[in-house]
Amino acid sequence: KDLTPIKSVYQNDFLIGNAVSAADLQGARLELLGMHHNVVTLENAMKPDAMQPTKGGFTFAGADAIVDQALAEGQKVHGHVLVWHQQTPAWMNTSNGSPLSREEALANLKSHIQTVMEHYGNKVISWDVVNEAMNDNPSNPSNWEAALRRSAWYNAIGPDYVEQAFLAAREVLDAHPEWDIKLYYNDYNEDNQNKAEAIYSMVKAINDKYALAHSGKLLIDGVGMQAHYSLNTNPDNVRLSLEKFISLGVEVSITELDIQAGTDAQLTEKQANAQGYLYAQLFKLYKAHAAHIARVTLWGLNDAASWRASASPLIFDKDLQAKPAYYGIINPD
Ligand code: XIL
Repeated sequence: KDLTPIKSVYQNDFLIGNAVSAADLQGARLELLGMHHNVVTLENAMKPDAMQPTKGGFTFAGADAIVDQALAEGQKVHGHVLVWHQQTPAWMNTSNGSPLSREEALANLKSHIQTVMEHYGNKVISWDVVNEAMNDNPSNPSNWEAALRRSAWYNAIGPDYVEQAFLAAREVLDAHPEWDIKLYYNDYNEDNQNKAEAIYSMVKAINDKYALAHSGKLLIDGVGMQAHYSLNTNPDNVRLSLEKFISLGVEVSITELDIQAGTDAQLTEKQANAQGYLYAQLFKLYKAHAAHIARVTLWGLNDAASWRASASPLIFDKDLQAKPAYYGIINPD
């Protein structure tokens, strides 16, 4: 009610986002969202299985309603996600459980990216073009091709599927110079230094190759740090990863922030305070690098609605009351 809006605290630093479904755009939830946030990510509604469940059968209505309402409420919209190994219909990259041919899979990849991007056009400020392509904790991270997850996209197309996805997305943007949209690579466990190195090496290789042929332009504009953390997360590792990604010359966004702190949908006072302190440390770090951070997005409005509800990872409790985590964010010093 009388709480300081998070978006006001960080108005000169970065956008403050949240993940939403249709249920968040009504009543008390909408009020809370509008008070603290100025950008939304659709938690599930724009994923490949929601956009194109059958080949060529695009189903935009559900996501359109959320996007249009969010825009009407004055929120910006981030697009999530075009290419992923989860929540993706099998037909896109397999046939009876075996990989599609490279040619067919590439055609599906490109037509999905093009059709979805053309549909939303300039309604979004950015897209997660590829999500979670890297293995966790790769042992030889500078060999990024070896560190790629053996996903169905990888198995059908090969290690250049990431580059191919960004090339297809860039082609759409090149045809619409009036649009202002950033193309992101997004991943989790990015505070792990081996994984951060693999992501860094991949983005650098793809961008260096593109820059040579396109007078220095970026192909991948941004790196998304999902930031699904826990009380064991070391903020020094977060800082090292953040600085490593910034050194690529791209923008960075914190795309899915939450901090697991318990197991049974309620926290002890000690856990709640430790969680608040870690949120504060992270926001202090983000503020110090605000020149390179476009957006910080939390992954859900309150604990009860979280994808990890039992771990109470968010900043408002099941009754939408502010937790120590909220106070950590608005007063990180
Ligand atoms: C999660 C959603 O929050 C859940 O509702 C859904 O059941 C599974 O996906 N990384 C991502 C997000 O990029 O899309 C995921 O969202 C969480 C992990």
